[in-house]
Amino acid sequence: MSLPPGPRTPGPVNLARFVHRPLDALLDWHARYGDVFSVRLTGFGVGVYVADPDEIKRLFTGDQSDLLAGQANAILSPILGPRSVLVLDGAEHLRQRKLLLPPFHGDHLAAMRGLIADAAAREFAGWTPGRRLVVRDRMRALTFDVIARVVFGVGDPARIERLRHALVRVIDGSSVALLGPLRTDLGPWSPGGRFRARMEAADALLHEEIALRRAAPDLDERGDVLSLLLRARDEEGRPMSDGEVRDELMTMLAAGHETTATALAFAVELLWRDPAALERVRERIAGDGGDAILDSVAKETLRLRPVIDAAQRTLTAPRTVGGHELPAGIRVYPGIALVQRRPNLYPEPDAFRPERFLDGRAPAYGWLPFGGGIRRCIGAALAQMELVEVLRIAIPALDLRLVRDAPDPVVLRGITVVPRHGVPVEVTRVRSAAHGRAPAVSAG
Ligand code: HEM
Repeated sequence: MSLPPGPRTPGPVNLARFVHRPLDALLDWHARYGDVFSVRLTGFGVGVYVADPDEIKRLFTGDQSDLLAGQANAILSPILGPRSVLVLDGAEHLRQRKLLLPPFHGDHLAAMRGLIADAAAREFAGWTPGRRLVVRDRMRALTFDVIARVVFGVGDPARIERLRHALVRVIDGSSVALLGPLRTDLGPWSPGGRFRARMEAADALLHEEIALRRAAPDLDERGDVLSLLLRARDEEGRPMSDGEVRDELMTMLAAGHETTATALAFAVELLWRDPAALERVRERIAGDGGDAILDSVAKETLRLRPVIDAAQRTLTAPRTVGGHELPAGIRVYPGIALVQRRPNLYPEPDAFRPERFLDGRAPAYGWLPFGGGIRRCIGAALAQMELVEVLRIAIPALDLRLVRDAPDPVVLRGITVVPRHGVPVEVTRVRSAAHGRAPAVSAG
């Protein structure tokens, strides 16, 4: 067995480069070493990146018993918990996934459209001329509102706000959790101690919600994720434990808001840095309401700025990938960011072209911001809908000045790719369309 080619630089150097400029580093390694390359990243061992759509298809489809995604995500379990759908594998994973999918599809999802528009309209009403904002921060609040509604149903806004505050503190302190050794609790002033205290505060709030909902008289009629989890029974008729429910709530809340907020910040950065493209999008929205162009803008944003640069699978048996026989135990990364820049799939792959997906189609296994197969993102349709509905309000309404002259550097934070400064903007003008547009459905 021989590993595919890759940089010979030491692990710490590769890791530093990857964290500093994740997309540039991956694209450069791809250009140098080809469609299947290996990289040593300190703390993560040697990983094999795959940039070929056919190879990725083979990884995402067919028998998955030798490819563990949960194990590769184990790094997230200090936050999400050991029973999160993200860190489970095999039958347990499928069982939890089946439970979680329904609220993110069909009628449940359609009912979210008006709610998202309402939340966005409320948010943008506060974007008045002269105000300076960090787009990613504002979008985090908005997307948390939305995911909290999916997870808890209609809830008390003050409780949701308390929960948001507690979770943001956990997530923002999470690099400590991810680094392993630092997580050890050496007292209240140590990083590990602080992390534990934040985690306990968030957990207490989650358990409070679980207890309240278990006792709710309308539990059987509710369609939100928490109620569905509390009603679920396994083959022997047993309900989920509070611990299991807590882990899934945490997973939805954490996986379901930051990612979408980051994608929205990238969309603003890409559009408002390209006035001609922005104007074309505005004209289309004014012309036909913009369904097709907004969907295309969302797809193009996620193509150029995938919030998650690669999926992860750990091999439990030797496997041939791109002609290389890889040993068991190695981590394989279907390279989302890499397939999405292939010139044979996307002419001028580095250019932002908001019209690129106007026909609605994306190349098979060439557009994968939500991963694939039985691990494909549960919230993909919700996230795409959020991008469309938020931009539908923002684009016609807002004239923004990007505060930074140069594009916001794309860096790695936790496991996601983010604009380093969160895209700071100044509102220069609010057009009349802005606040005139009534949301389709009330938040009720
Ligand atoms: C733009 C926003 C988002 C992006 C880019 C994104 C991306 C991803 C990716 C790449 C994966 C891994 C897929 C794989 O391994 O093949 C994933 C998994 C997941 N995502 Fe998302 N996601 C987003 C929004 C959301 C939302 C709104 C939710 C809300 C519930 C969510 C929940 C999950 C869950 C639960 C999984 C684990 C699925 C499993 O292991 O079976 N994500 N996401």
